[in-house]
Amino acid sequence: MMANFKKNTIKGSYYPPGDKSISHRIIILGSQALGKSVVSNLLEGEDVLNTIKAMRDLGANIKKERGKFSIYGLPPGSLFQPKNKLNFGNSGTGIRLISGLVCSNNIKTILIGDKSLSKRPMRRITEHLLKIGAIIKLRGDLYPPIRIKGIGNPIPMSFDIKIPSAQIKSSIILSSLNTNGIVKIKEFNSTRDHTENMLKSMGYNITVKQNKKFRFIKLQNDKPLKPINYRVPGDPSSAAFLITAACLLPGSKFAVKNILFNKTRIGFIQTLKSMGGNIKIIKKEKLNNEIVADIYIDQKKNLKSVIVKSSNIPLQIDEIPILSIAASFANGTSIFKGLKELTVKESNRLDLIHKNLLNMGVKSEIKGFDLYIYGNYKLKKGNAKIIHNLDHRIVMSFYIANLICEKNNIIKDKSCVKTSYPSFFKDVRKFLN
Ligand code: S3P
Repeated sequence: MMANFKKNTIKGSYYPPGDKSISHRIIILGSQALGKSVVSNLLEGEDVLNTIKAMRDLGANIKKERGKFSIYGLPPGSLFQPKNKLNFGNSGTGIRLISGLVCSNNIKTILIGDKSLSKRPMRRITEHLLKIGAIIKLRGDLYPPIRIKGIGNPIPMSFDIKIPSAQIKSSIILSSLNTNGIVKIKEFNSTRDHTENMLKSMGYNITVKQNKKFRFIKLQNDKPLKPINYRVPGDPSSAAFLITAACLLPGSKFAVKNILFNKTRIGFIQTLKSMGGNIKIIKKEKLNNEIVADIYIDQKKNLKSVIVKSSNIPLQIDEIPILSIAASFANGTSIFKGLKELTVKESNRLDLIHKNLLNMGVKSEIKGFDLYIYGNYKLKKGNAKIIHNLDHRIVMSFYIANLICEKNNIIKDKSCVKTSYPSFFKDVRKFLN
């Protein structure tokens, strides 16, 4: 049973856990660099542990030594034939990125996942990967298991991505590491660009240009990937839960240290600021082509509603569940526009947010793919049975709602939180005053 949290504030100095997107990528790219890479502050959530296991099965030597991970990689094109199926558990990032990687290796792989991942669309990556010459089969032409017969001499192609998705882009980029010739990718510039940034830091031949809407990436495998020493910055998507809680609880004084401040990841901070969140940047630095910051929240008043336009959704795609909690207790009508991608995440998040808000006593509507939330900071009913379908971000979001609601919402089986943020409950207890 949860303690009675009412009339609380968030106080203290917080180092969020390592960023999940970057953790996946450093394991994969470190595994493609000849020599020893050393990684500190890696997220040891289940999703990343599955990526480590998959890369070991594909031939990389990854060890944990004195709290840091050492990776001894093998060059692109020389992955081992795995003995077993590669199991990615809950992770869309793991399965999609590594599908790209194995496609350009002369090996046969079967990539699988848990119940949720087995229902997530994969043709969005395979329609591109087929073009390099890999042979790929999906269950029902759409879902995992993904059966891949890779090609050792992939065809250099130009790709035009129609969905704003870093996973699609990164899958193609990883497939190109073993491609002789020039590979070109056109995609939306709102997607996270960690794969590109990391490749630049590792000395790879990649150029990135962008205009107002699109990003143009050009890759050539004429320079080897150099091993790297990498400190993984704190995950803004995990920090978003306590940052939102601090903004929702006037009187909070909360320092967040070493948080990844890449502009494709901090749309939620902009949204919270527009709602009246008093968030200030204390320090910013660039490390391995990523911006890392210390920020401070000194919250004095209640939040107000916000309208988020669809072109800004990719910048905060994983934070919509927690922002929906912020909107519920912010006076006025909030609108989050263009949430189609939210329906194909670890669960149909759009549907679950809407249903749980209604059960909690918050008026909400879905019009097309737009979410309307009629917020009211006085309305704090709670007492809902939360339906989460084992989606970690839904569980954490409605747990934070409990800090505000008069009666706690009932959340059964919170174990899925370990996929992205194993220390979440400990951290909430630590900073709640
Ligand atoms: C991720 C990209 C996003 C995000 C996911 C992690 C990544 O997915 O929702 O949690 O690490 O590339 P899409 O790129 O499919 O939007």
